[in-house]
Amino acid sequence: MGVNGLEQERDQWASKIGLILAMAGNAVGLGNFVRFPTQVAQNGGGAFMVPYFLALFLLGIPIMWVEWVAGRYGGKYGHGTIGPTYYLMARESLKPKSALIMGTISGMVAFAGVTLLNSYYLHLIGWSAAYTWFSITGAYFGKNTGSFFSNYLSNHAEVLLFWGITIVTIAIAVGRGVSKGIEKWVKIMMPLLYIFAIIMVGYVFVLGSPINPNWSTLDGFSFIWSPNWVYLKEHFATVMLAAAGQIFFTLSLGMGIIQNYASYLGPNDDVALSGIATVSLNEFAEVILGGSLAIPLATAYAPKIVPATVLSQGKGAALAWIGHKFGLGFAYTSLPNAFVSMGQAGRFFGALWFLLLWFAGWTSAIAMYNYLVALFEEDLNIKRSIGTWIVLLIYFILGLPVIYIGLDKYVTPLDNWISFQLTLLALLDIIVAVYLFKPSNFWEELHKGAYTRVPTFYKWITLIVAPIFLLIPLVGTFKGFVSGGIPGSVGAAIIIMFIIGAVETYYAIKRKYGEEIKENKVLVKV
Ligand code: ALA
Repeated sequence: MGVNGLEQERDQWASKIGLILAMAGNAVGLGNFVRFPTQVAQNGGGAFMVPYFLALFLLGIPIMWVEWVAGRYGGKYGHGTIGPTYYLMARESLKPKSALIMGTISGMVAFAGVTLLNSYYLHLIGWSAAYTWFSITGAYFGKNTGSFFSNYLSNHAEVLLFWGITIVTIAIAVGRGVSKGIEKWVKIMMPLLYIFAIIMVGYVFVLGSPINPNWSTLDGFSFIWSPNWVYLKEHFATVMLAAAGQIFFTLSLGMGIIQNYASYLGPNDDVALSGIATVSLNEFAEVILGGSLAIPLATAYAPKIVPATVLSQGKGAALAWIGHKFGLGFAYTSLPNAFVSMGQAGRFFGALWFLLLWFAGWTSAIAMYNYLVALFEEDLNIKRSIGTWIVLLIYFILGLPVIYIGLDKYVTPLDNWISFQLTLLALLDIIVAVYLFKPSNFWEELHKGAYTRVPTFYKWITLIVAPIFLLIPLVGTFKGFVSGGIPGSVGAAIIIMFIIGAVETYYAIKRKYGEEIKENKVLVKV
């Protein structure tokens, strides 16, 4: 009998390498290869990179440590979900009745984040599976790639087929558990993902100017890497928000899924070095690999991608067009033109690119899937095998608006909302897992079993700089929602998920800690 009436021992990572690859898989996703270039392109290229690195060092790294600490702490009590874990951490400063409120709010935000994000994320992964196939068969070669994509999206049976292949493979892996399922799959997929990306980047480096001497991959690199102070000054708040949002998205922070994976650690397993290893592996995949693919390819093949009328206005106009056009759909609409222009090699590189996206998305989606399965298994006491298929059904329903309402009216506004939500949970991370848990406890936990010491100035960054920094994007995005509004269908989905999340979390905490909440005094302590 485990802690707090838990009937069986919790699963744990079988090996260190498995854990690190799983965490890297959790973080490295479509965010690295599609969302990152999108954000760079839409936010002034080099103007984006300065706030991006600031957000990485002042938000990403400290919050990564907070989430690893919180996850391992929750795991000690048998929890892999945010509600009960944050209840326990808040209990260090608050009475159980008040801690219940903090736990419920945090669990609610995590639940809404994971479910809403996956409603479209899984579809994007499904599109990548489809486009891997279309590249191999050359289905979009010789066609208008924009219309090809629209036709594909309107063929719902085909969209559901590739979505289904994706989600069923994830469900099979998750159903087998953490060490026997997730760990086994990521140990194969993650090394392959890095190999695919390195092969593609190697190709981009030797590509030069494939179509026209005026356009080369170097144009793309210089767009990303020349700091653009003027743009940054003029659009400071927007670029700041985008940078912070991207850091959370790419590192899988503010979702509850880093905590979930960390909950399968032993109580004295390192989190300090492992946390920074996760960040490093992700940033290598994002800045070095992700930064060397979509944008340099788009600029090298600009004459085939950018309309002739825009091209004739010069490079500035063409880059602006690419920046404007770059969006979540760019990888499936415009970029395929680059593969078509490569001739036979394009089938290979197209398939490699989309398979890379599929692997990247799959290994992140599985972490979110496991979060929800843990919620059924641990919070609601439903068998893992049954919970796995209930999650599939939930995702199916949540994915319907993506099919029927579409990319521009549903996915893009929802993705903007997600940036806000991730920031909100990151703020709760600091309030609950650092301040209410008590900063001294946090620092002690961070160094329990640690392979390295975290420099003391990071304590101050976590305590003071990060929460202040977080308020900038939080207030800024909120103002954006107030002035810009949210489409009704997106708003409805958000409200429904918040309500379900709140009810589920409240019930889960009460079910486990009802007695001590009733007496309003701590009874369960490990
Ligand atoms: N961190 C994951 C990604 O970047 C969610 O796609």
